[in-house]
Amino acid sequence: MNEDSSVKTSTEKTSSPVCVGTEDDLKKQRKTMVTVHGREVVIFCHAGMFYAMDCRCYHAGGPLHLGEIEDFNGQPCIVCPWHKYKITLATGEGLYQAVNPREPSSSPKWRSKGVKQRTHSVAVEGGNVYVTLSDLDCRKDSDYYADKFNKRINYPVKK
Ligand code: FES
Repeated sequence: MNEDSSVKTSTEKTSSPVCVGTEDDLKKQRKTMVTVHGREVVIFCHAGMFYAMDCRCYHAGGPLHLGEIEDFNGQPCIVCPWHKYKITLATGEGLYQAVNPREPSSSPKWRSKGVKQRTHSVAVEGGNVYVTLSDLDCRKDSDYYADKFNKRINYPVKK
């Protein structure tokens, strides 16, 4: 087997949806840690919607399944229990507040650091919840801690 075919096989293997539980159970639990193709993923149920993201925070690997969900700037976020970073559930963006130094009297505004945390897609079918891992070829900051904590998965390496 050459390297190209092994990369393709690994990507194909991790892109298939995995059933992570029933809709009812995950709604009751609100935050559930599961393993999808050897990767630690947390499933959030918030305001009737499901969200999935890598369990380890992009900042220093904090356990996001132990954080609290709060709304910031109209977006539901998980607040990391270690250093209180805010991560949007829908996109994995890191949010922070800042004041424009050129306008000293202005109040702090919410801003985005960009997508820092890897999120995954969630689908509900027949009362079961399925997670499909996002494209692992496109690296996110949180992958460093996902790699560190998930030694069992082989990430495709781009050349
Ligand atoms: S580890 Fe999450 S905020 Fe530091």
